[in-house]
Amino acid sequence: MSHNRERRGRSPSFYARKSAEMTQMAPIIRNYRPEDWPDLQDIILRAENFGPEFIQHEKLRIDVFTRNPEFGTVLVAEDPVSHNSVGFAAVQYGWRALVIESIAVHHRYLRKGIGRELVEHIKKLGAEHPNADVLRVDTGDFMDYAQRFYESCGFKVGGLVSHYLSWHNDQIIYVLRLKD
Ligand SMILES: CC(C)(COP(=O)(O)OP(=O)(O)OC[C@H]1O[C@@H](n2cnc3c(N)ncnc32)[C@H](O)[C@@H]1OP(=O)(O)O)[C@@H](O)C(=O)NCCC(=O)NCCS
Repeated sequence: MSHNRERRGRSPSFYARKSAEMTQMAPIIRNYRPEDWPDLQDIILRAENFGPEFIQHEKLRIDVFTRNPEFGTVLVAEDPVSHNSVGFAAVQYGWRALVIESIAVHHRYLRKGIGRELVEHIKKLGAEHPNADVLRVDTGDFMDYAQRFYESCGFKVGGLVSHYLSWHNDQIIYVLRLKD
């Protein structure tokens, strides 16, 4: 798809215009395609608490899930106006739990409900999964905005784990029941 290649050279005003046009429209949620990678790379590079050091690991995970669909999936939120990929989520299928390993939205498209749409789609995947009864995600105890986001999507705090991602890193574990 040429729009991905074209988009890399576009100006900030292009994104501002397109994101404003999208304000009233729901994103298209679909599976990841290899041609999404330039857009996702841009999202990861600019997202708060992400950055260049995450690129290699995120790409590795996307490749693993894409080649092994029984192990996980990558969802992309597409802007219905510009057709750019403006958000993504990588979800691992664990034993009886789906785990959101990463979720991020393009910095110019924040607070338009895209993250929530991705989570709602993941909840549906979980409800249809034969074994899963929990959706799980973790976030840094310092990341207030992410905590507000997960709580607004219906997650409950399942616990706090010290020294989780690295020594001195404390993560809050969020859980959501998929089935009664
Ligand atoms: C977390 C993230 C994915 C949320 O995506 P989003 O599309 O902006 O979120 P939504 O618009 O769907 O927000 C849904 C609700 O979550 C809450 N929320 C989202 N962002 C928030 C913020 N910055 N501050 C407070 N509450 C917030 C609000 O209740 C919001 O509803 P409202 O806008 O009607 O008030 C996005 O902020 C992001 O990509 N951050 C950078 C990457 C990251 O930190 N990922 C999470 C790692 S654990």
